[in-house]
Amino acid sequence: MDYQEVLNNARKIIMDKCKVCPDCNGYACRGQVPGVGGKGSGQAFVRNREKVQQVKLHLDTLVDSGEIDTGITLFGKKYKYPFFAAPIGALEMNYHPSLNDLTYNEHIIAGCCDAGICGFTGDGAKDEFYEGPLNIISNNHGLGIPTIKPWDNKTIISKVRKAEASGVSAIAMDIDAAGLVLLAMAGKPVYTKSVDELKEITASTKLPVILKGIMTPQGALKALEAGAAGIVVSDHGGRVLDNTPATIEVLPDIVKKVKDKMTIFVDGGFRSGDDVFKALALGADAVLIGRPFAVAAYGGGKEGVRLYADKIGNELKEAMLMTGCHQLNDIDRNKVITV
Ligand SMILES: Cc1cc2nc3c(=O)[nH]c(=O)nc-3n(C[C@H](O)[C@H](O)[C@H](O)COP(=O)(O)O)c2cc1C
Repeated sequence: MDYQEVLNNARKIIMDKCKVCPDCNGYACRGQVPGVGGKGSGQAFVRNREKVQQVKLHLDTLVDSGEIDTGITLFGKKYKYPFFAAPIGALEMNYHPSLNDLTYNEHIIAGCCDAGICGFTGDGAKDEFYEGPLNIISNNHGLGIPTIKPWDNKTIISKVRKAEASGVSAIAMDIDAAGLVLLAMAGKPVYTKSVDELKEITASTKLPVILKGIMTPQGALKALEAGAAGIVVSDHGGRVLDNTPATIEVLPDIVKKVKDKMTIFVDGGFRSGDDVFKALALGADAVLIGRPFAVAAYGGGKEGVRLYADKIGNELKEAMLMTGCHQLNDIDRNKVITV
């Protein structure tokens, strides 16, 4: 199987919800939530993608030749590349019933492990959609990061205990899911969280806690104050609020406040190894990629996921070669320009 076959297969299966566009940019699926689009006008998803495209790389091959190392260590685990599969939930509703939240995460976790990276898993109204993926992570040497919804603190802490038992190296919480009405309708309400409430969660565990859905420097500082070890600069792929700026636009100001004090992930519209390079140049430590991993899983199962990750990894390596970078630390603000 090659990646083109993966895309062709996926197109046949998920066509009704996702057109598997040559560039996954939020136009064809505007407003389709549930579905794969951005909320409302869909501009947040579109803008995420457009602003990533407006960053360009400086070509520079006047450097020593030598090995290129794309490796990164995060929360005590070594990974081959600085990008990961973002959590994607409610697969049957958003994409197609041929995969559900369990079978999807089997492909994501195994395919990411094969590629030397890891996948974030999600959470939902049904407990099995949190616990099933957790078991899959446990069977894959703890290589996966569960993402807990912002339920009431008692429920969150009971889910943290389950994560600890499964050997994960960190947990995440998609704090920006606080407005998801579908969960409330299913009798499982989610909430916004004060710094004190977040402190109770971070203090309840030795595991590093990553808060996903930070879009302002103030939010990043609150996450730091709450004891979070990491943040994901994210607007949930444009799915929770219509008129947000692009994640790559807000990234540099957030980086100024919390760089080297916590791990900074970013997601939203990153589609290639060059795009991962751009995020790192603007100060992120690592990138999450959402929708294209879902397409890869539908079109090729765990092999599709591995093929996609290898493709992005190879592109990143090539970008590093052509910009004079041997290690991820060499990728800095001087390597890119915003047009
Ligand atoms: C269909 C769909 C379902 C998602 N479900 C979740 C989820 O359950 N938990 C979560 O934290 N983020 C979820 N996200 C957001 C992604 O984790 C990620 O933030 C976003 O997709 C990144 O943008 P990208 O798809 O443009 O790469 C979902 C996104 C999509 C498209």
